Amino acid sequence: MNIQIFANKEEASQQAFILIKEALDQNKLNFGMMTGESPKLFYQMLRESDLDFTQANSINLDEFYGLGEEDEHSYHYYMEKHLFKFKQFNQTFIPNGKNYNLIDEIDRYEQILADYPRDIQMLGIGVNGHIGFNEPGESFNSTTHLTRLAETTIGTYQNYFKGLERPPEYAYSMGIKSIMDADQIILLAFGAHKAKAVRDMIEGPVTRKVPASILQNHPNTVILLDREASRLLNS
Ligand code: PGA
Repeated sequence: MNIQIFANKEEASQQAFILIKEALDQNKLNFGMMTGESPKLFYQMLRESDLDFTQANSINLDEFYGLGEEDEHSYHYYMEKHLFKFKQFNQTFIPNGKNYNLIDEIDRYEQILADYPRDIQMLGIGVNGHIGFNEPGESFNSTTHLTRLAETTIGTYQNYFKGLERPPEYAYSMGIKSIMDADQIILLAFGAHKAKAVRDMIEGPVTRKVPASILQNHPNTVILLDREASRLLNS
């Protein structure tokens, strides 16, 4: 793991921006995208830049089951708002939360992952160590699946879910194996609330209890942290 610690999330996000710029310069075109708080500055930097994504494809990690693109809580909506409205991509892919035929949706997304092998997969980490919506206990061999959100996750998303009559309990997510298939992984984690998960990911044993710990086995993972998120690390 290549661990880089920055004074603040602005500098860490800038580094993520540089890595994406270098990838584009090298004609890498398939980017696994993430959502949440962590990439907001990074997306701001992308949309304010002159980077050209018209030949590139974006492949998102996950989507809430039952939420469509018109719903402002969906990740479709998030990606439009933070990136796609400003930057044109060749193709953008996100699991379809409105497809209630699980086999059909899972097959569709697995085919997309096979057709667009990711050069880079962007990731965040949950306070419980989840990556995508692969919650503690998830098999390291998992591929795209419908996952039940952990109580901790539903708790941390309470603000995000405000306004929804019934917060989603399930999501479609790339699996852990799907994530590990990417050539390079770039993980962003900011803030003191992430410090324990970050320590467990980097210094703990590789265990299903901490899904992100599997990244220790990935040959090309870059972890970009602000100081608070790094504060429990020993070295
Ligand atoms: P966050 O979520 O960036 O909103 O903290 C990260 C995650 O849960 O993976």
